[in-house]
Amino acid sequence: MSRGNPGVCFVIVEERVIAALDMKSAEEALSFLDGVPRLRFAKVGMQLFYREGLSLVRELKDRDLRVFLDLKIHDIPNTAFGAVQSLSTLGCDIINVHCAGGLEMMRRAREAVTGDTKLIGVTILTSLDEQALHEEIGLAGDLQDHVLRYASLAQKAGLHGVVCSPWETALLKQQMGVDFLTVTPGVRPRTDDAQDQKRIMTPGDAVRHGSDYLVIGRPLTQAADPAEVLDGILREIEVNS
Ligand code: C5P
Repeated sequence: MSRGNPGVCFVIVEERVIAALDMKSAEEALSFLDGVPRLRFAKVGMQLFYREGLSLVRELKDRDLRVFLDLKIHDIPNTAFGAVQSLSTLGCDIINVHCAGGLEMMRRAREAVTGDTKLIGVTILTSLDEQALHEEIGLAGDLQDHVLRYASLAQKAGLHGVVCSPWETALLKQQMGVDFLTVTPGVRPRTDDAQDQKRIMTPGDAVRHGSDYLVIGRPLTQAADPAEVLDGILREIEVNS
């Protein structure tokens, strides 16, 4: 048994790695999955969903995989409600909205969630650092304060957790409670290139800081031997849990 935080209990370590399937086609995504039999959780984002739609999500569920549908919904409350309602028949394990849509939008989205699906809020993208937040987005102050404010709003709206950088999980767990899920992209094995991610951490450090789920894309999907990379990541998580 692998325990992340006292509040979230994972039966097997494989449940904690979510592979980001940022590929051009369902064929490419499915062939990647065939090569990583230990993988239990897949993330379908905009790139693949806009091309392949609902059928790919159904195929992944048919393969008994858990699915994070990462569409980052951000619209007026009524439209966000309808969007989540439209997705509710898929039985996804995680779906998400942008916290920047505000409290009412998140509340309405939460109302539309059915079954065991978890709804989480995107705080500040892990590709943004404080300089970009100040100079491009026009948000003054500490990046962590914005993440904390967004996470508090998400919790108030009844969301199950947030997407955040692994650098923010310890603070969020402390402030929001251990049951509030933290799903963290920006994870890079020590030897990997950061690519466009700014606030990154290794898998071992990420779980020690309190990440429940690690979203890992290119380090896995672009690896020469993804199964071997996944084995290494899972080992690192186990050692640090
Ligand atoms: O390839 P890489 O490991 O950087 O992929 C990270 C994945 O997590 C991408 O699919 C990206 O869209 C997603 N993501 C992110 N930052 C967020 C929310 C989602 O990188 N705040």
